[in-house]
Amino acid sequence: MNDRQLDVLVICGSLRRGSYNAALARSLPALAPPGFALRAAPSFEKFPIYNLDLQNSSGFPTEVNAWADAIRAADALIIVSPEYNWSIPGGLKNAIDWASRMKEQPFKDKPVALQSVAPGILGGSRSQYHLRQSLTSVDTILFGRPEVIIANAAQKFDEKTLALKDQTAIDLIKQQLAAFEKFIRRVSAKV
Ligand SMILES: Cc1cc2nc3c(=O)[nH]c(=O)nc-3n(C[C@H](O)[C@H](O)[C@H](O)COP(=O)(O)O)c2cc1C
Repeated sequence: MNDRQLDVLVICGSLRRGSYNAALARSLPALAPPGFALRAAPSFEKFPIYNLDLQNSSGFPTEVNAWADAIRAADALIIVSPEYNWSIPGGLKNAIDWASRMKEQPFKDKPVALQSVAPGILGGSRSQYHLRQSLTSVDTILFGRPEVIIANAAQKFDEKTLALKDQTAIDLIKQQLAAFEKFIRRVSAKV
């Protein structure tokens, strides 16, 4: 282990302009330890729905290659995502499905931490457990605890600016990111 700064890619599962999850992702640089350099992943918004016929006829779309390259280059990932119908939002799942078919599979051996926000009382936690299944399938190294699950979002983000204002959530995120840094340096062969 050394103490070089870690390149950590943040993937947001929501494409919505006023997204709470995107707001949470934007709050992370201020809460991360000095050992993290965070950057946002390119959008998966334009990815076609995965179809092996399409892959066979036209190969991987440019946007999918860009997304996969960003993942490959990173030391670790943080996925910040809402829950749709008790599971992973289709756009994010589709992106994982595309990347999973690539030869140099970008998720392999990549440390990953999860975060979710929802207006409801379960805070998107069910999407995290489904993500854990899919991310195990693509050979990531999953960070365990503390889990960042933010429920009742409307009370925790500023109504106008969407800044995260809840001190308990802020403290929990700081704890998770600090523990995730130690985890990455422990499990990753690259650092
Ligand atoms: C298609 C769809 C399904 C949803 N299903 C759930 C759900 O299962 N559990 C939940 O807590 N919220 C669910 N919601 C509400 C989302 O948590 C809420 O819209 C949230 O703000 C989405 O995240 P975002 O603000 O980052 O876009 C759903 C929303 C949509 C649009």
